[in-house]
Amino acid sequence: MTVGVMDSGIGGLNVLAALIKNRVADRYIYLSDGANLPYGNKGGGALKEIALAGCRDLAERGANAIVFGCNTLSVSALDYVRKRVVPPVFGLVPRPDLLCGRALMMTTPTTALYLPKIEKNVSLLTPAELASVIDGEYPKSEATRAYLSPLLLPYGDCEEAYLGCTHYLYATEVIKRFLPHAKIYDGVEHLAALVRAVLPPSESKNPSIEMVFTGKKQVERYLSVLSSLLK
Ligand code: DGL
Repeated sequence: MTVGVMDSGIGGLNVLAALIKNRVADRYIYLSDGANLPYGNKGGGALKEIALAGCRDLAERGANAIVFGCNTLSVSALDYVRKRVVPPVFGLVPRPDLLCGRALMMTTPTTALYLPKIEKNVSLLTPAELASVIDGEYPKSEATRAYLSPLLLPYGDCEEAYLGCTHYLYATEVIKRFLPHAKIYDGVEHLAALVRAVLPPSESKNPSIEMVFTGKKQVERYLSVLSSLLK
C-alpha cells in the first residue's frame, strides 16, 4: 500500500509520522507544496484546484490512498477531490465540539470560515502569518515566539487548546508556556488511527519515504524533522 500525504510545507510531517507509527503503509510519498504556501490565506476555489492537482500528482506517482496533512485543505477541498480522483482521500477536520472548558481554538483564517458553530466558552484565534513563520524557521522558534506571544497573552486561563493547523503543532512549547493549564488537542493521532482502520493492514516497520517539493527542495531538513517526530 502506498499512501500519499500532502500539505503546504512541514506541517503535514506530523501526520506522516503518525501514519508511520501506526504502520499504515509500506511506502509513503510526501508532497510538500511550498509553491502554494500559505494555504491558510487562500480562498476555497483556489484551494480546491491546488488539492486536485496534488491528488492527481500523488495518484500518478502510485498512491493508492491520499491523506491531507492539513486542516485547511481538508475543510475546503475534501468533498471536491473525493468526487474527482480514484484513490480514497482522508482529511483532518478540526473539532471545536470536543472543547468543553474555557478553550482556545487556533486555525488558519481560511479554516475558520468552515468551522461549525463555536460555543461561547471557546475563543477563536486565526494568526494569519503563523504557518509561514513556523515553516520558515523550524526547528528554530525565535520568530514563532515573537509573533505568537502577544497574541496568546489574553488566554492564560484556558483549560484547553485545539491546534487546528498542522504547522501549529511545532509551536506547542510556546503555546504551553502561555497556556500552562491547557490540555492540547490536534486530531492527528485520531486521523492516523482512522486511516489505519480503513485501509488494508500493513505491518511494515521500515517503509520507504519519497519527498516531492513544488517549491524549494529541502529533503535533508524534512527527513531530519520527520526522524525527530518518530522518536
Ligand atoms: N498546515 C496546514 C493546515 O493544517 C496549512 C498551513 C498553511 O499553509 O496555511 O492548515
